[in-house]
Amino acid sequence: MSSTSPETVLILGANSDVAKAAIPMYIARGYYVIAASRSTDALQAFALQQQLSSEKLLISYFDATDFDNHQQFYNDLPVKPSIVLYAAGFLVQNEEAIPDFEKTFTMMKVHYCGALSMLNIIVMDYENTRLRKIIGLSSLSGVRGRKSNFIYGSTKAAFTQYLAGLRQYLFPRKVTVNVIVAGYIRSKMTAGLGLTESLMLEPVFIAKAVVNAGSRFTIVPGFKWKIIYNMLRIMPEGLVAKLP
Ligand SMILES: NC(=O)c1ccc[n+]([C@@H]2O[C@H](COP(=O)([O-])OP(=O)(O)OC[C@H]3O[C@@H](n4cnc5c(N)ncnc54)[C@H](OP(=O)(O)O)[C@@H]3O)[C@@H](O)[C@H]2O)c1
Repeated sequence: MSSTSPETVLILGANSDVAKAAIPMYIARGYYVIAASRSTDALQAFALQQQLSSEKLLISYFDATDFDNHQQFYNDLPVKPSIVLYAAGFLVQNEEAIPDFEKTFTMMKVHYCGALSMLNIIVMDYENTRLRKIIGLSSLSGVRGRKSNFIYGSTKAAFTQYLAGLRQYLFPRKVTVNVIVAGYIRSKMTAGLGLTESLMLEPVFIAKAVVNAGSRFTIVPGFKWKIIYNMLRIMPEGLVAKLP
């Protein structure tokens, strides 16, 4: 890596609606973005529509569940990242996930195994002295186990705990780790779920929280979700059991 190569943001799961909102924001701040996704055609169309120049954006293929190829994917990156955003996500509701282990396992692979496989490779590259931030998109579903969504929620809880430990592990190297603990986001993932409209946040709002992430570990975008998050954390088990 040349010392003159641009500061680079690597986005894993970059066809996410939140990630796509973050890409132009990072580019506007002068970063080179590597958008890594299974859906490279969709991202090419997005780049064309947004008039994002190939000098600022590289689209590359990445599957979070293809663990065997993660090291090669990292080795092939033309520039190693300063900032990494893990945005890949997959949601199946409990009713479908409990009887179908493949669906449960896919959530485990996308949110936990794939994240650890890829992020561990990234942090093991001690030669990449530019690495300074890792941000994970997690969820309020991972704060307390609730009967309606504990399969998805538990995979997010595991991801959040990994990031918490990773933050401590990377502290001596001056790499900051943040977790975005998001509530409802209006995205492909929640389309058709009929979630409470007044609690929905736009992808661009979450993306702003991502690109502005500072030194604090937990970032909960939106004041209503901050209140819900703080209540959930201290709520006695008996009350949590009354929630959906
Ligand atoms: N939407 C919400 O209410 C909400 C709330 C809290 C947290 N989150 C989290 O926020 C993140 C972004 O979600 P979003 O709301 O932007 O939803 P989204 O638009 O559905 O984005 C999720 C992305 O994950 C990608 N993905 C799934 N499996 C993958 C795999 N095996 N390898 C690589 N990428 C994979 C999908 O790729 P394809 O486009 O190729 O299918 C999709 O682009 C996710 O981690 C999600 O769990 C979402």
